[in-house]
Amino acid sequence: MRRGLAAGNWKMNGLSTSLSELEALVAAHAEPGCEVLICPPATLIARAAQLAEGSAVMVGGQDCHAEGAGAHTGDISAAMLRDAGASHVILGHSERRADHGERDAQVRAKAKAAMAEELVTIICVGETLEERDASNTLDIIGGQLSGSIPDEATGHSLVVAYEPVWAIGTGRVAEPAQIGEVHDFIRGRLERRFGAGVGRSVRLLYGGSVKGANAAEIFAVSNVDGALVGGASLTAQDFSPIVTALEEAAD
Ligand code: PGA
Repeated sequence: MRRGLAAGNWKMNGLSTSLSELEALVAAHAEPGCEVLICPPATLIARAAQLAEGSAVMVGGQDCHAEGAGAHTGDISAAMLRDAGASHVILGHSERRADHGERDAQVRAKAKAAMAEELVTIICVGETLEERDASNTLDIIGGQLSGSIPDEATGHSLVVAYEPVWAIGTGRVAEPAQIGEVHDFIRGRLERRFGAGVGRSVRLLYGGSVKGANAAEIFAVSNVDGALVGGASLTAQDFSPIVTALEEAAD
């Protein structure tokens, strides 16, 4: 009942020439059996959205400000993302939390602004290795969920990405049992807070070193509805097999 979502996060990578990768992805997945999203750097969003218009591939931002407009040098509002052609936004990524000191309350305010602009909001949560080693994983995730997700969230407007910090960009993937434990926990928390209807319709993505070679195993885990992919989303050649694995998992 939940449609799979293969989301690519290009992070601070991509120049004009990278749009050819998006073009190749669009060509390879004309009628995908899942949703496909690319979140390029802000400089490429408008052009990427133009290129993908009318195709099955959607375009999103990697962050937005909590306010609609104003004196915030360097920031981008949710309305600007929408205006540029984005349909989604990633919020509270661990790199934003680490590099820019973003806290749950800020992520929540941003998510509220994004949802008000009808952007589908991918809220990221995840524990550090120290937190996992101290057996604090579920406490950390629970706190991030209640702090970062606004009350306005619906099954459509909210997507949650579980990304263990120690698995991002490290080549180290969480074990299926570890992923399953956290995803089941997140599902339970969402059902408790928002009721079964909404709680069961929110898509839960896993992120952290997802590749074509490990995607099928990850998508077989309970309550995994897709992936948020960094490094392996930068080329169509690497990302396409992940999309295909998700399509096959839905069959
Ligand atoms: P990675 O990044 O796939 O390069 O590990 C995932 C992410 O940060 O979303």
